[in-house]
Amino acid sequence: MSPPKKHRAALIKEFGKPLAIEEIPTPEPRDRQVLIKVLGAGICHTDVHVWRGDWSAAGIPPKLPFILSHEVVGTVVAKGDRVPEDIKEGRGVLVYAWQWARDDPYVAKGLTQLSSYPAHLAIVVDGGLQEYFLVSDYRFLVDVEGLEDLPAAAPLACAGLTTYRAVKRVLPHLEPDDYVAVVGLGGLGCYAIQWVKALAPYVNLIGVAGRDESIEFASKIVRLDAAINTSRVDPVKTIMEITRGRGLKAVVDTVGTEATIAMYTSLLAKMGIHMLVGMIGGEAKISPLLPFIVNERTITGSIVGSLSEQIEVVNAAKRNMINYRAVVTRRLKLEEATEGLEALEKRRALGRQVVVF
Ligand SMILES: NC(=O)c1ccc[n+]([C@@H]2O[C@H](COP(=O)([O-])OP(=O)(O)OC[C@H]3O[C@@H](n4cnc5c(N)ncnc54)[C@H](OP(=O)(O)O)[C@@H]3O)[C@@H](O)[C@H]2O)c1
Ligand SMILES: [Zn+2]
Repeated sequence: MSPPKKHRAALIKEFGKPLAIEEIPTPEPRDRQVLIKVLGAGICHTDVHVWRGDWSAAGIPPKLPFILSHEVVGTVVAKGDRVPEDIKEGRGVLVYAWQWARDDPYVAKGLTQLSSYPAHLAIVVDGGLQEYFLVSDYRFLVDVEGLEDLPAAAPLACAGLTTYRAVKRVLPHLEPDDYVAVVGLGGLGCYAIQWVKALAPYVNLIGVAGRDESIEFASKIVRLDAAINTSRVDPVKTIMEITRGRGLKAVVDTVGTEATIAMYTSLLAKMGIHMLVGMIGGEAKISPLLPFIVNERTITGSIVGSLSEQIEVVNAAKRNMINYRAVVTRRLKLEEATEGLEALEKRRALGRQVVVF
């Protein structure tokens, strides 16, 4: 079936205002481009930052109107004349969101997410909150055939990928019986706990959040060795008790505020690592500095993941190493996307919300 001339999209026309649902022209794919019919588009907290205009001074987004969602899964409906034969109509695909416009040494090394010419979805170029989406190059498609619930697989493109890379990067620091904390149990956090269980089953996993509901929800996905609700107990005292004074060997911080950095860098064990993923924002303060140095602690950031890591993540989901379906709590209509953004911002959401078509 040929695609319609126009399709519906959710547009940011003004920062922080309800998204406008409008009809926009459906592009015709040429050359290496592929047109997909979107099945699922996840709503990430990064979309909230972009929608609010938090990063507009940095040129994100580059223009208004702008279309959100960098977590996109769909089926191929049309393709340009230089797309290989085996990428067939009807095939289920996940769109690698951290695209690049030109090759450079980082891309050549496989660190595609660090390209100096980024064309990241819903950050630099329009994203997938629309019925049809034009993928700029077939090389950004990852085959998701075999996954049973394609709309629910969309968050593998950011929440799943970002936390896979972050957890992989802390693995060299971990030994049996160490303590690892995942801070924040939202969309990213619910994947991060699964990666820790899958890739480092020999550590003690502590889940940290500020609401009982998010802890309960996360505990249904994996068995947490301990859980801390920071609005009920003093996290410093509790973590020192749980770890019997040893501290945390790794912190996967999916919140990323002044408070989390200050607190969890001080709770690190010797040779411990604070992996900063969340971008809620603020300034980092490490105080006092001396214990940070004498215990050889590390703090570093992690940004999404590479194209090859994206393939690894999809393969892990195909092998049931992680449960991607368990993370999705709400399936929204396109008209309800603003509601989804507000729920994330007001800390009312659980897991990941996905707009389905
Ligand atoms: N580095 C990267 O590559 C990357 C990739 C994707 C997203 N991010 C960033 O990671 C962060 C988390 O994304 P997400 O999609 O997982 O968000 P989310 O679903 O909203 O989860 C964040 C969780 O953090 C907790 N939280 C604690 N303090 C908060 C605060 N001041 N504001 C909001 N939430 C707070 C909330 O849990 P409780 O209410 O239960 O405490 C919430 O469930 C965002 O800043 C996002 O931009 C970074
Ligand atoms: Zn994201």
